[in-house]
Order: sequence, then structure tokens, then C-alpha cells
Amino acid sequence: MAGMIGAPIDDLDTPALLLDGPALERNIRRMAEFFRGKPCQLRPHFKNHKCTRIARLQSDAGSAVGITCAKLGEAEVLADAGFEDILIANQVVGRRKLDRLVNVACRTRLRVAVDHLQQAAAISAAADAAGVTIGLLVEVDIGMGRCGLPPGEPALRLAQAIVRLPGVRFDGLQAYEGHLVSVPDADERFRRTREAMQQALETRRLMEHAGIPVAVVSGGSSSTYKVTGTLDGVNEIQAGTYATMDWSYRQWAPEFEQALSVLARVISRPRPDAAVLDVGVKGVGHEFGPPQVRDNPTARIPRFSSEEHCVVEGVADWRIGQAAQLIPSHACTTCNLYRQFVVHDGERVIDVWPIEGSGRLA
Ligand SMILES: Cc1ncc(COP(=O)(O)O)c(C=O)c1O
Repeated sequence: MAGMIGAPIDDLDTPALLLDGPALERNIRRMAEFFRGKPCQLRPHFKNHKCTRIARLQSDAGSAVGITCAKLGEAEVLADAGFEDILIANQVVGRRKLDRLVNVACRTRLRVAVDHLQQAAAISAAADAAGVTIGLLVEVDIGMGRCGLPPGEPALRLAQAIVRLPGVRFDGLQAYEGHLVSVPDADERFRRTREAMQQALETRRLMEHAGIPVAVVSGGSSSTYKVTGTLDGVNEIQAGTYATMDWSYRQWAPEFEQALSVLARVISRPRPDAAVLDVGVKGVGHEFGPPQVRDNPTARIPRFSSEEHCVVEGVADWRIGQAAQLIPSHACTTCNLYRQFVVHDGERVIDVWPIEGSGRLA
């Protein structure tokens, strides 16, 4: 893909992952503006794009206390790029992982989520042996039913155990309201988010009454930040998808623009009303539905299951060789499939950014 800068995007080899640079910057600015001067700040979630250039833009936009990531491999990429305050919003388990974790902690301020004494004790032993300190957030399950201890006493007991361990520092709570991010009605989403987060805030109070300082309650998302980010006692919002967006998330957070798309090309016109594009499930994250064709309301993708093909109906005027942009239903799994973003402004390529965290699942 050498010599792409300045080229028209339709000229690119396909499939290619496109990022609308000005739209991305407006999304980042909008979120940073919301948190400007508020007690709660942003900790943008790297798992959305896995690209350190974007993470740097998010940090530089202000209102950010650090960066969130989902996996240790992402934390390594961020530490390599010089990020100095990293939260792995996930449990890190396994002997080899602990060696790597300690390595990252030697280079940067690191926090990790835990929901069991076994994880905390293993991190403590590894960190203590290496002479580093790792911050721990006790994850509480506020309704999502994924990881996390029940709020209240069980979380308090784990915090009480952590404060006695060497090599780790109890830093607070993680509470992610992931089961509510796609509640369609905004009022209901916000009401239920408030209720769910109260469980974390009550747990915070319980810990503080027990004499355990809680530096941080971390949670939130791109569709609940307006509520979670203004609750007294929530300190950080781990929003991710607001940067790139996808068509499914835009239903819940329409204030952010669609910056991400996959450029594909028509390789066949097998029937008068069908065109076939050169990308399938290996190139577009589709957990929340098939992709949509950008700016083409008549185009339909009734099935999206081939590895390398996408059959589009309702596009009688499409010709072999022409390019089209697909909007994925899930941005985060789409970015994970590519090695670079081709950044564009309108019809022209303006930059190419590596996606260093792509495929870093471990
Ligand atoms: C732990 C955690 N925090 C926050 C988020 C919010 O990300 P988004 O803004 O993309 O919904 C996620 C999304 O998966 C998550 O897993």
C-alpha cells in the first residue's frame, strides 16, 4: 500500500479499513468536551480501535486520566508506545501472564481488575518478587452477569484481604453496566444505569466506612457516560466505541459520527439485482448484524455468512470494479481484523496508521 497518501480512496486495494479522520477527531473532541472540568474524567477504552495513534489523540484531547484496555497484550502495546497510566479492565491469570504483567508494571503505572482472592494473591506474589506495585480494582457485577463479585459484603471482604497483601495496592472498584448500553429508550437506559451504578456506589461507601479508602470507581460506556459520568463517586469512564462508532452503537449514541468503514469492491454481478463484494465475515465484525452500505438506503445484505463474499441486493446500477463502503455492526471486532487504518478526509487518503493491538488476544 505504498504511496497511498493523497490517493482517492476508491483507488485503494480492497478490502481496506477506512477511518474518516475529521469525523474521528470530532468524536474525540465531543467526548473530551463533555468531561471538561468535571470531577469524573475519561479513561478511553483501547479495545475499540487498538491503535496507539488514536489513543494518543484521545489523551491529547484532555479530560483523560489514562487509558483502559481489555487484554495484557494491549497493555504491552500501550506501554511500548509510552502510555503511563494503564488499566487492564479484566482479570489476568496464568503463570506466563504474571511475568508479562510485572514487566509492564516495571515500565508504567498499571491497574488490573480482580474478582477473587486467588487472582489477587498471584499478582501480589509476582509483583512482590519483582519489587513493583500493581494497583487492583475489585470488579463488582452490577447486573451484566459476566465477571465480578456481588456488590456489598463480598466485595468488601476481597478489598480487606487485598490491603494486607504485599506488591499490590487496593485502588477501588470497577463496575461496568454492559447489560444496559443497548437499551433502546434513552430515559429507561439512563434510569436503569443510575440504579445499577448505585450498587457500586453503596459498595464504595461500605468500604470507606470500614476504613478502606477507595481512590477510584471506574465504569461507563459510550451510551451511558452522560449518566454514569455525572454520578457523585464515579471517577472514570471507560468509553470505547465513541471514537470509531458502528451502525449498531449509533442507535444508542447518535451524537457520535460514523468514522469507521470497510472499503470493498464489486467482483461479480451474477444476477441483475445482486452484486458481490470482495469481503465477508473475515473482514467485517458482524456480531450485531450484517454490515450496512454507506449512503445507500436501497442496498440490502440479507445474509452475511461467507468468509470472503458479501452479496448486496437492491443495487441494480452497481458495476464490476466499483468500490463501496460497508459500515460494520461491531467496530471493535472489525478493527481487530486489520493491521492498519487508511485515514481519509473526504475522498482523499491523508494517512496510514498501524493497528498495533490487532490480534493481540493474549
Ligand atoms: C470493561 C468494559 N468497560 C467499558 C466498556 C465500554 O465500551 P463501549 O464504550 O465501547 O461500550 C466495555 C465494552 O466492552 C467493557 O468491556
